[in-house]
Amino acid sequence: MRRAAASRPAASSRSRSVVVQASATKNLGLGAAAVALATTMSLAGPALADLNAYEAATGGEFGIGSAMQYGEADIQGKDFSNMDLRRSNFTSADCRNATFKGSNLQGAYFIKAVTFRTNFEDANLSDVLMDRATMVEANLKNAILQRAVFTRSDLKDAVIEGADFTNALLDKTQVMALCKYADGVNPVTGVNTRKSLGCGSQRKYKASFPSNPDGPQVQEDEKEAFRKTLPVYRN
Ligand SMILES: *[C@@H]1O[C@H](CO)[C@@H](O)[C@H](O)[C@H]1NC(C)=O
Ligand SMILES: *[C@@H]1O[C@H](CO)[C@@H](O)[C@H](O)[C@H]1NC(C)=O
Ligand SMILES: *[C@@H]1O[C@H](CO)[C@@H](O)[C@H](O)[C@H]1NC(C)=O
Repeated sequence: MRRAAASRPAASSRSRSVVVQASATKNLGLGAAAVALATTMSLAGPALADLNAYEAATGGEFGIGSAMQYGEADIQGKDFSNMDLRRSNFTSADCRNATFKGSNLQGAYFIKAVTFRTNFEDANLSDVLMDRATMVEANLKNAILQRAVFTRSDLKDAVIEGADFTNALLDKTQVMALCKYADGVNPVTGVNTRKSLGCGSQRKYKASFPSNPDGPQVQEDEKEAFRKTLPVYRN
């Protein structure tokens, strides 16, 4: 489902996406409560089903109105530069040689995507899920990758000059490979690429990459405390 939202420029104002969301909701005949729910993301009880129906109808996630569906799509060489693609779905998509230069992809899904030689220069990829993605020779120059998940992803020979990996999750071997040539400072966040990867610091690496099987393990009581915070969906 491709909506008009796709042509909106990156960094579009918040008010604009709220307008899109509000009109989409009006067309669907959903009440103000649904808008409030989608906006605050306070998920509770049966309203969750309503929210899912709303998402399916709008092609967006949590009413954000920017999420595009490109799951399993062949988008080789396509131009997605300077777009608002927050939380969009590129799961298993073939993105070879496509360009996302300067786009906002915050929270997007790239699980098992092929991003060989894909251009992500200057893109905001914070919170993306790149699990098991093939990112060989991808261009991540000056990209923002804060809290991104790269578990089992292959970033062989990716361009990472100026990329900001603060709190990103990468495999130990991947970090070691990237640290061999990591360089630069991100022009937006001012973060040093090597520092964000924890290059040259065994202690920081151990503390910041939970995918490291040799790193600190979560204690049973901590797990139990976490489980207690989970909502009860069913009794
Ligand atoms: C993303 O796309 C995949 C493949 O088409 C689909 O299975 C999955 O449900 C989608 N995920 C979301 C969050 O939309
Ligand atoms: C990749 O895309 C660029 C334009 O975006 C094009 O000039 C180039 O020929 C493409 N290369 C391949 C291998 O498809
Ligand atoms: C990335 O995009 C998100 C969502 O629009 C925004 O909140 C965040 O500030 C951006 N990050 C940077 C470093 O600009």
